[in-house]
Amino acid sequence: MVEPVIQSRVEPTSGSTEPVIALAAARKVYRSGSLEFEALRGIDLEIVEGEYVAIMGPSGSGKSTIMNILGCLDTLSSGTYRLGGDDVNDLDEIDLAQIRNQRIGFVFQQFNLLPSLSAWRNVELPMIYGKVHRDERKLRAQRALERVGLGDRLANRPGELSGGQQQRVAVARALVGEPTMILADEPTGNLDSVSTRDVLGLFDELHELGRTIVLITHEIEVAERARRIVRVRDGEIVTDEVNAA
Ligand SMILES: Nc1ncnc2c1ncn2[C@@H]1O[C@H](COP(=O)(O)OP(=O)(O)OP(=O)(O)O)[C@@H](O)[C@H]1O
Ligand SMILES: [Mg+2]
Repeated sequence: MVEPVIQSRVEPTSGSTEPVIALAAARKVYRSGSLEFEALRGIDLEIVEGEYVAIMGPSGSGKSTIMNILGCLDTLSSGTYRLGGDDVNDLDEIDLAQIRNQRIGFVFQQFNLLPSLSAWRNVELPMIYGKVHRDERKLRAQRALERVGLGDRLANRPGELSGGQQQRVAVARALVGEPTMILADEPTGNLDSVSTRDVLGLFDELHELGRTIVLITHEIEVAERARRIVRVRDGEIVTDEVNAA
């Protein structure tokens, strides 16, 4: 019996006070030719398992850079990033690929779906890399799509779906591998208000089921769904507050 997708609760493994994410003095310098740009200028950020954190800030403030670091898609120029207690610098590319595949669910503003594949084939993809058996992959992909309200769109390609539906496919893909952490970069940036509400509703449910969620947005209405709001500006954290709303 396969557990229904995202109905399974993640129990804190570390007594819940040990940060699952810990950035210390994190700096990121982008270099192109002789040009250098310091996108992160000494970020300290700790996130405990099960937290729902929004990262806010104006365009160019470094939000996606933070997300890429947290998701092990890019590395720091200096400082440290500890993920689940491990210094990411000590991990090799195989370890990192495994972390990205098994522990982290990514949701991007541009959906990043493969246009030639049906909804369920898109959702199944992370499990192919994760070596899940074919029949179970299909079943889990279908369940994930049903979970996001797309049980009747399994065979449709992204081009045949609305923006909101495409983003829900992307959310289904992010959660199908049962990651403990969801990293979402402007997941509602291309959505209308109804689809935004749907996607944020899914994040609320994931949070209630114990997932750690880091949600990047420049919209305060979206950020206010999180329990904690971190504001960045010019590569630095300017405020880090519990959301009283
Ligand atoms: N590969 C790169 N090479 C050089 N500079 C870069 C690169 N990627 C990002 N930058 C610069 O780093 C800064 C931070 O970029 P980042 O994408 O993190 O911003 P952001 O907060 O996500 O902005 P937005 O809200 O527009 O998505 C920007 O000034 C950007 O121009
Ligand atoms: Mg960005």
